[in-house]
Amino acid sequence: MTQLTLTRPDDWHLHLRDGAALAAVLAHTAARFARAIVMPNLVPPVTTTAAAADYRARIVAALPPGARFEPLMTLYLTDHTTAAEIGRAKASGIVHGCKLYPAGATTHSQAGVTDLRHLDTTLERMAELGLPLQVHGEVTSPDVDIFDREARFIDTVLAPLAARMPRLRIVFEHITTRAAAEFVRDAREGIAATITPQHLLLNRNALFAGGIRPHLYCLPVLKREPDRRALLEAAISGNPRYFLGTDSAPHARHAKETACGCAGVYSAHAALELYAEAFEAAGALPRLEAFAAHFGADFYGLPRNTGTLTLEKADWTVPADYPFGDATIVPWRAGETLGWRLARQGVE
Ligand code: DOR
Ligand code: ZN
Repeated sequence: MTQLTLTRPDDWHLHLRDGAALAAVLAHTAARFARAIVMPNLVPPVTTTAAAADYRARIVAALPPGARFEPLMTLYLTDHTTAAEIGRAKASGIVHGCKLYPAGATTHSQAGVTDLRHLDTTLERMAELGLPLQVHGEVTSPDVDIFDREARFIDTVLAPLAARMPRLRIVFEHITTRAAAEFVRDAREGIAATITPQHLLLNRNALFAGGIRPHLYCLPVLKREPDRRALLEAAISGNPRYFLGTDSAPHARHAKETACGCAGVYSAHAALELYAEAFEAAGALPRLEAFAAHFGADFYGLPRNTGTLTLEKADWTVPADYPFGDATIVPWRAGETLGWRLARQGVE
């Protein structure tokens, strides 16, 4: 196969940042995706519908001329998010979910939720209105081994929550373990998961290949090879509960190459190309379209896109870096050759 044409895909988990950083990264996503679920972990976080509307306007203003891209906004849940705010979010038509960051779990999560039981009324309202909960699924206790934090979260938080709120729609974001893939497969109706390209293509050895690799550090951190295989099996399974979410998370080079580097892999410059590589390696390229363009839209109750995206089988070299405001960003696979290249978008 030398060309691969898909329905225009969507990215169901993306960090766009703000200001000069937003302007630097947005074109990569808009060249590939029709829509993206935009994470709310700005500083300060996007906790209200009004803030989400302002952020959305800044994203639209930063789009390259002629781009056809729709940002799908989210709210950042805190201990104080009210049911009334959920009502405003749903009524706005621009907010498509609320993100649960357990406080302290990852980048800019300090304002996150300390105890889900504070939020029962808020979550009940979300269930009632059909507004999905997007979950960063890691426990935060320093006593729990970092490689066990996702599995522990399933047992102590997610499974009880799914049972307590039987109508709440939940996206288990960026799953990284076999346990998570199996939980989602076997869970009640209304539970889905996003999977990133790095968790499909890499295991934790990649973090230490020849030396420490800060640009491959993300949260949840890469796991073992059996976990990667389970995620790949899930992604190519044709089960609509699993769909594309890159978690592309740009940080300036100096914030990654330092004594205490930030978590986040930047993949927006080659996102579809990287998923194509993973699906091709598994002999499952024909399954990519549904994973990238159908299942997420169906879960979120949005129409599937019209128009197409075409990749071609052709080598290209990822640049060593991209401009990022006053700084630079090091993309995943910097300086390396990829075998799939973006050919064109056919926008209707
Ligand atoms: O690696 C990550 N980066 N994981 C997250 O949960 C947050 C993200 C970011 O915002 O940089
Ligand atoms: Zn994320």
